[in-house]
Amino acid sequence: MKKDITTEILEEWLNNVRPYAYDGQVANYIPALSRQDPENLAVAIHYIDGDSVEAGETEAMFTLQSISKVLSLALALMDNGEDYVFERVGMEPTGDPFHSIYRLERTPSKPLNPMINAGALAVTHMIHGDTPDEKVGRLLSFIHELTDDHSIRYNEEVASNEFETAFLNRSLLFYMKQHRIVTGSVEETLDAYTKQCAIELNVCQLARIGALLANEGRDIASGRRIIPKHLARICKTFMVTCGMYDASGSFAIKVGIPAKSGVSGSVLASLNGFGGIAVYGPSLDDKGNSVVGLKLLELLSNRYDLSIF
Ligand code: DON
Repeated sequence: MKKDITTEILEEWLNNVRPYAYDGQVANYIPALSRQDPENLAVAIHYIDGDSVEAGETEAMFTLQSISKVLSLALALMDNGEDYVFERVGMEPTGDPFHSIYRLERTPSKPLNPMINAGALAVTHMIHGDTPDEKVGRLLSFIHELTDDHSIRYNEEVASNEFETAFLNRSLLFYMKQHRIVTGSVEETLDAYTKQCAIELNVCQLARIGALLANEGRDIASGRRIIPKHLARICKTFMVTCGMYDASGSFAIKVGIPAKSGVSGSVLASLNGFGGIAVYGPSLDDKGNSVVGLKLLELLSNRYDLSIF
């Protein structure tokens, strides 16, 4: 199977799915994201044996947005342990849009899972660090380890654009502060969260993270353990149940690979025994998932029988 997936095949598939870019829209609620070109498409596969194949605009940098929620969860779990984290954030999918406040009102004691914004904001609050910059600095160092690339930074323009307009996320934080899920300054937690979402990668770096998760938390090149196996498993389980928000059910049926999307149009997929797959295509469907990313992962999964189910 592996040898079949050549750069030429991936290029051909990218060309086949390119027209779907016009079935969706580039995110516009963060002004800096609205300038992305919907035809800027890229895909990379990093296998667990270390080989890789990629196609399209592989140099294009995009911000992680909600994909960062998987990595902040891993770090918060490593910082605090499972009991502490899951006393404050639940494990159940919601079937609601990612920024919905509705469930918080129904279940004020804790947000339902760490992939919706409420849960992710609570998780960011749990990352060790006295200041937002210390938390984000620790998350960046963790991502440097995951990718073996110390050049990765966050995009300041995207972070400040989102910070200025994140009124719903502020509301979620105030709500959670009222119910003592978070403490301290709402502005500081939001500052850390918006910087976390603005961390910039390309598809090759992201696919390597997917491969590390597929390799039970060990770095592919060195074999060094970076995430404990049981925590890597927790992250992948959330990717299955909540990674594509209120489209997680149909994605599980059509693709069947643990995956997490972000509103920049990127998708991180991780498949045990196979490796990591990263796709970038900024045009989004009405749930906030990359239209081209979903199409391409569906093609790959069907052609190579990759579903875990
Ligand atoms: O909280 C937000 O609005 C964003 N920074 C992240 C949202 C996101 O990526 C949702 N994804 N599909």
